[in-house]
Formats: sequence, C-alpha cells, structure tokens
Amino acid sequence: MSNEIERRDLLSKAWKGGLVLILAAGAWTTWDLLQPLATKGFGGKVRAVPPEAVAGEEVVEVPAARAYLTRIDDELIAMSEKCTHLGCRVPWCDSSSRFECPCHGSVFNRAGDILSGPSPRGLDRYPTEIGDDGLIYIDTGDLEDGPPPGTETIDDPPTGPPCAVEEH
Ligand code: FES
Repeated sequence: MSNEIERRDLLSKAWKGGLVLILAAGAWTTWDLLQPLATKGFGGKVRAVPPEAVAGEEVVEVPAARAYLTRIDDELIAMSEKCTHLGCRVPWCDSSSRFECPCHGSVFNRAGDILSGPSPRGLDRYPTEIGDDGLIYIDTGDLEDGPPPGTETIDDPPTGPPCAVEEH
C-alpha cells in the first residue's frame, strides 16, 4: 500500500516537472520570436570598411549592403546597386568610370547621377556613419531617392570605352 502511494506520488511529481519544462520551453520560444531582428545584415546598419579604404575617386562595393561607397568632394556617399529603372544590379565599369546597367542600358556617373537610359532618377542613396569601432556603417534600412534627372553632382568625363551593355 505504501509503495503504491509512493509510486503515484513519484509519477505525479514527474508529470508536474515535465509540464513545467514544456511551459518554460514554450515561454522561451515565444519570447525569442518576439525579439526584434538583429540589424547587422541587409535591411539594417551594415558594417562596411574603414574610411581610408574609400580614398580619392575609388568606388568600393560593399556586397553585404548591396551598395557602393565613394567620395564626392571628400563627402562619403553610399549608393544602392539596384537600378532605379527595374531593379537590376548595376555594376561599376572600371574602363569608363561609369555605372552601366546591363538590363536596359542606363548609365550613371560616379556620383550616381543618371546620364542616359530609361531610369527615372540617379542611384538611390543610404545614410552612412562612422561607428564606435571606426568603421563605416551603411544604413540600408533608410533608402533615399537618388538625384533627379539633370543633376550634375560631378562633371567627370568617361575615362575609356564602356563595358558590354546590352541595349534593348
Ligand atoms: S533595369 Fe537598369 S536600365 Fe532597366
């Protein structure tokens, strides 16, 4: 009789213990799901490169931000690599020193101003800041419209022939 009671008591405690574990796991999972997403990847502030890596008239691609960094009159600017026409990725062409969209031929200068093609504006921009670690951060969650047509932020002539651009 006493053994029977002890066994029931033990089983009861085991069930209660299991129930507490299940409830704790559910609460932790719910809490974890409700946490805001980390902002280290695209859509948040993306850590890029040291400021000295963007020197002179260089164009530096930051794949994690899907963006380019350059300096215009010593001011650091970050441009989206997404074409403002239909969203193709726009590569930098070293030979012409232009951004040339391979989809429908839009051409942008180093400042992202639209020079020709069907894009309605220049390349869109992201704010940048220098983090506590001294690196450039690109805020990919805060896209700003690129310069309107006719903007001439810079007047750099092409430095050579264009890269292959498929005309449609
Ligand atoms: S997507 Fe770039 S010109 Fe059409």
